[in-house]
Amino acid sequence: MSHSLFLLPGDGIGPEAMAEVVKIIDHMNSAMGADFVTDTGLVGGCAYDAHGAAISEGDMAKAMNADAVLFGAVGGPKWDAVPYDVRPEAGLLRLRKDLQLFANLRPAICYPALADASSLKAELVEGLDILIVRELTGGVYFGEPKTITDLGNGQKRAVDTQVYDTYEIERIAGVAFELARTRKNAVCSMEKRNVMKSGVLWNQVVTEIHKAKYSDVKLDHMLADAGGMQLVRAPKQFDVIVTDNLFGDMLSDVAAMLTGSLGMLPSASLGAPDAKTGKRKALYEPVHGSAPDIAGQGIANPIAMIASFAMCLRYSFNMVTEADRLEKAIANVLDKGIRTGDIMSEGSTRVGTTAMGDAILAEFKALSA
Ligand code: IPM
Ligand code: MG
Repeated sequence: MSHSLFLLPGDGIGPEAMAEVVKIIDHMNSAMGADFVTDTGLVGGCAYDAHGAAISEGDMAKAMNADAVLFGAVGGPKWDAVPYDVRPEAGLLRLRKDLQLFANLRPAICYPALADASSLKAELVEGLDILIVRELTGGVYFGEPKTITDLGNGQKRAVDTQVYDTYEIERIAGVAFELARTRKNAVCSMEKRNVMKSGVLWNQVVTEIHKAKYSDVKLDHMLADAGGMQLVRAPKQFDVIVTDNLFGDMLSDVAAMLTGSLGMLPSASLGAPDAKTGKRKALYEPVHGSAPDIAGQGIANPIAMIASFAMCLRYSFNMVTEADRLEKAIANVLDKGIRTGDIMSEGSTRVGTTAMGDAILAEFKALSA
């Protein structure tokens, strides 16, 4: 059965990183009996240049119909002055909202070879394996009103709205508890119930659904600011962290850096399983941004993008063996001391984007032989 993949490389280093995934897809099609059918579209600044929108209606329709979307990165200084509604990020936010990708999985794994590349002491991060489950279609990102009003007295007023309904908290908590059962069986929920009503409700709903359906899983609650502090103090205390859209955005960047580089962290954004087919809409993207400062130089780290494709194999196509092998291939290449600039350390071999992709593909082939 063929699987359709819609590729949205985007801006900056997105296309360079995506090219390394395409090599793996081509190899799986030609040598491993996979049947991926790919199509490519535009998102972000490049879509604005071509269509005056952060993503065209045609590409939105393709994303809707694909089995999975692979997303690179969007944005760059070139588009800093474009109107707010068509800024590059609007393309990504529209994909998340229209495809109803409410569950964002951001694993932060510290490969043993990279413990020294972390800004924390190696012993604090060695063997780190945590999963941030971020709510992705609600909260302050999408809440209305969202306005800047001229008050007429030389002042303006900006309003963003943090809003969560019970069902939104229930379904993201459910995802976190179920994933915890496949891991170390512990969930830490983070909010700010001490200042926010949405935090009060979040805490209540997570507590209730835990009691009703997931009491076998260990549950803790932390205020999100304390959670951020604990993430850099003793990150290995966590297994699964579940949190809202904005806190999840910030905490996942913090968690990413624990692993040595933002260039290492993949993510999966999943919708609810379809009642008839069981299929869920899904988008896979590296957590790093478009890194315009190094774009086009061939030095970007493609690992987060490749690891995002491994998540795609696992969550969209249940190709668990292949996903395991691809992740193992990344670990082996790092063990051999092959590094892009962002994770470079003394005594290692510094390579560019293409050579890193080639090394991972060669290792993947060897592991699959
Ligand atoms: C992320 C990014 C996005 C976000 C931006 C690009 C809109 O930072 O995926 O973490 O804030 O969600
Ligand atoms: Mg972010």
